Amino acid sequence: MPATAANIRTAKRVDRFTYAIRNIVVEAKKVEAAGKTVRYLNIGDPNQFGFLTPPHLIEAVVKAMRDGHNGYTPSPGVAEAREAAAADFVARGVAVNADRVLITSGTSEGIELALTAIVDEGEEVLVPSPTYPLYTAVLAKIGAQPAYYRTDHTNHWLPDLDHIRSLITPKTRALVVIDPNNPTGAIYPDAMRRALIELADAHGLVILADEVYGDLAYDGPVPPMAALDNDAPIISYSSLSKAYLAPGWRAGWMAVGASPRLDPALAAIKKLADGRLCSPGPMQYAVTAALTGDRSHQVAFRRQLRERAELTTRRMNAIPGISCVAPQGAFYAMPKVDLPPGRTDADYVLGLLRATGILCVYGSGFGTAPEDGFFRIVFLASPRELDAIYDEVDAFTREFRST
Ligand SMILES: Cc1ncc(COP(=O)(O)O)c(C=O)c1O
Repeated sequence: MPATAANIRTAKRVDRFTYAIRNIVVEAKKVEAAGKTVRYLNIGDPNQFGFLTPPHLIEAVVKAMRDGHNGYTPSPGVAEAREAAAADFVARGVAVNADRVLITSGTSEGIELALTAIVDEGEEVLVPSPTYPLYTAVLAKIGAQPAYYRTDHTNHWLPDLDHIRSLITPKTRALVVIDPNNPTGAIYPDAMRRALIELADAHGLVILADEVYGDLAYDGPVPPMAALDNDAPIISYSSLSKAYLAPGWRAGWMAVGASPRLDPALAAIKKLADGRLCSPGPMQYAVTAALTGDRSHQVAFRRQLRERAELTTRRMNAIPGISCVAPQGAFYAMPKVDLPPGRTDADYVLGLLRATGILCVYGSGFGTAPEDGFFRIVFLASPRELDAIYDEVDAFTREFRST
């Protein structure tokens, strides 16, 4: 074969890149092709389960388009959205001005911008285990390594501070804190947040505070971590995706904390943001509408989430061999199944998929050990559907553990 007819070689970084939440869909498609209906409990998208975007946000986007805001915006975002986000942070106790806020294509882009701006190839970032997998995916792209720190399911899924300390090396650059947490549903008490800030501060680490579920704590919004210490080097993230029910719009915001120690990072992030031109323009106008307008939909959403969380915890804990820590916020639970010797979390999850069409994601996709038997459930379906689904999980689990 002539050299020119060979496949185009792909970059080695792709081999290191995984994103199990979506990668697993390939398996679900095979099950569908074989004629079985798949219940997708893998992706945290409230819209797919009937939770609809508030109309005033849609109107803001439509109006922006009609008003001719269809061109590129300034790279850090339109002024009114940045000001609205800054004012919202100030109202929540974070002293930040609009110059330190960027509007991004979801939190996802903000995470990628910050890690790319701050972490060099070969350096390390402290990432929770289990983690939302975008962090490790981005680190794989930029040639950096995750250092997984334990969050403990026997202690409400709280971070293990001693373990974090033991992982810090001269190569460590940042600490990722996801609170409220995906995939565990944990919320950290202030004492834990303060301890994390002190720890990061003592080692010159920047904290990436992923707060996309901050308004979805069942007891009401939790303040941003940066509100505890306005001088700490914290980059705070949120978006329209979850608490404002518009994940497809790809509209998020990040605040690079007021500490002057973050000035070089802010400049680097803005420099990188120039290269991607801007995040989707009309959607940026919905950020203003979201943060200055009616948020009553969140009250109903939190109530519905609490009901589903309680149902999920109760049903999971009633299945022999499964234990589940009660989520405090967001729409995920991370139960643990005691696996027969030699079996993995992927064996369990793929077995469940093939037997029942129920698609969850194995814990190892979030960084837990395959033999530990964790799996993540997205519990956005209606309580009635969830009840029926959990009947099937129960039957499958009994069968799986007996063979
Ligand atoms: C913890 C966490 N961070 C970030 C994201 C990405 O959010 P966005 O849609 O704002 O990019 C998600 C999405 O599921 C998430 O769970």
